[in-house]
Amino acid sequence: MDSLKSNAFSKKALRTKDPPISWLMKMALARPHLISLAAGFTDSPSLPASEVREILDDLWKEPRDVLAALQYGNTAGDEILREWTRQRLEKRDHLNQALSNEQIVIGNGSQQLLSLVTEILCDPGDIILLEDPTYFVFLGIVESCGLEAVPFADSRELRDRLARLKAEGKAGRVKLAYFVSYYRNPTGTSLSSNDKKEIAGILKDFEQTHPIYILEDAAYRDLRFHGQDISSFLAHDPRLERTIYTATYTKPFATGLKVGFAVAPEALVPPILRFKGNEDFGTSHFDQQILQRVVRGGYYEKHLEQIAEVYRKKAGAMEQSLKQHFPKEAQWNTPSGGLYYWVSLPPGTDCGVESDIFKKSLDAEVFYVPGELCYCESAYRKRPCHQMRLSFGSASIEQIREGIRRLGSVLKASTLPRFQHQGG
Ligand SMILES: Cc1ncc(COP(=O)(O)O)c(C=O)c1O
Repeated sequence: MDSLKSNAFSKKALRTKDPPISWLMKMALARPHLISLAAGFTDSPSLPASEVREILDDLWKEPRDVLAALQYGNTAGDEILREWTRQRLEKRDHLNQALSNEQIVIGNGSQQLLSLVTEILCDPGDIILLEDPTYFVFLGIVESCGLEAVPFADSRELRDRLARLKAEGKAGRVKLAYFVSYYRNPTGTSLSSNDKKEIAGILKDFEQTHPIYILEDAAYRDLRFHGQDISSFLAHDPRLERTIYTATYTKPFATGLKVGFAVAPEALVPPILRFKGNEDFGTSHFDQQILQRVVRGGYYEKHLEQIAEVYRKKAGAMEQSLKQHFPKEAQWNTPSGGLYYWVSLPPGTDCGVESDIFKKSLDAEVFYVPGELCYCESAYRKRPCHQMRLSFGSASIEQIREGIRRLGSVLKASTLPRFQHQGG
């Protein structure tokens, strides 16, 4: 019976597995006392409830505006929101060549745009270059589209992989390179401006019969709490012909308003809009009307300042607790933005989905994202399973401290190999 049913499904449906995010959420819901350091949720107490209330009150004073907000919008998105997005990005990235509003598409979160862009560029069997590790929800898109993922850890490895693909006669199948370039999900690290310049050059030099596009996912760019902003790949693409930049208003402002955007080379916009037209012919118009008023009224930038303070404190609490409670073998980078710490245990340790460490952590009512979920399957390397992604987004400071203490106890009770370079 089951095989009869599955015979009805498309190849794409059969390729598409349960995303780990559903499993992670189910797990958290089934254990109400669990301290979750897994979810990519944001800080609930600082969600902009009163700002949104004010905007809605104002909106309701104008019956015509209310009715318009409750009506369908258009496929590309609200004009004012697109205009504001364009101007902000041009200023931020000091773009010499002006963007046009036509190059901006508003999406149902940036997630939708990541998926649409991949679909308009890639056929099953095409190759996508991925940072290693990467955003695990994007790995679901890659799998669903039937793409071959080629992972690389840095620009040197990117050159090696491309040379190998060329030698194997696969160069023509390389279509897209995906980067989470700001305060990465999962590692918390960012790609420097120099790295971007170098990578854009490497990819351009490799092109043969068709463009290789860069898909820059800047979902966390606005969640910076230390240091300076870094310019995007757009700044290294003088004719704005190879970079597709996506970002979101969802993460930094309100996760319940799923509104993101993409900036794409002109040639890519019509196919993106056709696909989006088939899918939803427009992102929630009501949500866009709220956001349009949020950005126009200056609420957005003000909110960014407020949450920077919140996440600076939360990240600080996590750092301090890691130092206090984690075994000396554990290593991590200190993020300057975003929502994540990425902790590496000595290679050879297993803290993956099936590991004792993961099970014991659940028994201790604390939960993390096993790092192995952030690595694609690849013949180039074994999938590492000695890392964990820890989020300081939704947990309170007390929960962060207690969660890290519990995790630290589990790790200290486990036998960990030593990092090689730490010597005897
Ligand atoms: C790296 C990255 N990209 C994109 C998204 C999608 O965000 P949204 O669809 O809410 O804009 C997320 C959400 O967690 C993310 O972590």
